[in-house]
Amino acid sequence: MKKISVFSVLTGSALFIAGVFSGAGAAQAASEVSYKQDIQPIFNDYCVACHLPGGSGYEASGLDLSNYAGVIKGTKHGPIISKGDPLTSNLMAILEGRTDSSIRMPHSDRRDMNQEDRRILRAWIVEGATKEGYAGKPASVIQELCMDCHIPGGSGYEASGLDMSSYETLMKGTSHGPIVVPGDPVTSNLMVLVEGRAMGGLRMPHNERGAPTPMDRKALRKWILEGAPDN
Ligand code: HEC
Ligand code: HEC
Repeated sequence: MKKISVFSVLTGSALFIAGVFSGAGAAQAASEVSYKQDIQPIFNDYCVACHLPGGSGYEASGLDLSNYAGVIKGTKHGPIISKGDPLTSNLMAILEGRTDSSIRMPHSDRRDMNQEDRRILRAWIVEGATKEGYAGKPASVIQELCMDCHIPGGSGYEASGLDMSSYETLMKGTSHGPIVVPGDPVTSNLMVLVEGRAMGGLRMPHNERGAPTPMDRKALRKWILEGAPDN
């Protein structure tokens, strides 16, 4: 149940983000948010003047927004982001004016954060507030779900010849051939298996591992659609 609701929230956010980016002429109708390309620039624009060591915001609260580690660490009282949940994230509460107005950020002598930027931050938190870019997500999905078995010496590699530990070997595929068809998730065996579309019910990862979440599958599908680049 939980997964379904996360997915529908994400789908909603993906739509407006695609709108925002197509206006900006970005290469992708992005359905994921990139920390480096989307999130850090927002903090740089609105917050970093005060929230880095030596700045007034940092000195008063301990919050350093100049890099990912600082953002995740939060203030001296603790984190300002609950991964996956913008509603209980202090960062969003402050930006959306859901706190005592005396601690509205950015401070009133600065302009208010515009709505698109707030939405992008919210979508990023919904997606788990990771440090990755668009293309980094497939790599981390594969690392988490597949690499135990699909490296030389692992059971998956021994049985199928598929070594997923590097881009080159992943693209080489199994002993029968490639599992990724750049640009075409539908005929890519990787997606066939991960989505449970294989004949005979073969599914990856094997059942004793966690199943990929809808977001994991989406990240893989999107990476293939974009031509399966080496990131
Ligand atoms: C002009 C300087 C300035 C800017 C710009 C600024 N801050 Fe702050 N921030 C402060 C100061 C000073 C404090 C200490 C608390 C206070 O005086 O309100 C603070 C405190 C905070 C806190 C801790 C509040 C608490 O509960 O104690 C958060 C979270 C925060 N800022 C987030 C942000 C974010 C996010 C941005 C950008 C959107 C931002 N700030 C922009 C100066 C700034
Ligand atoms: C627990 C070990 C394990 C994990 C984790 C695992 N695999 Fe496998 N994989 C295997 C084994 C074993 C085989 C050989 C086929 C079989 O026995 O089911 C295999 C076979 C395959 C094949 C070839 C299937 C064929 O048609 O020959 C692909 C493609 C594959 N795995 C992809 C993946 C992907 C993608 C993931 C992660 C989402 C993954 N595997 C995770 C063990 C694993």
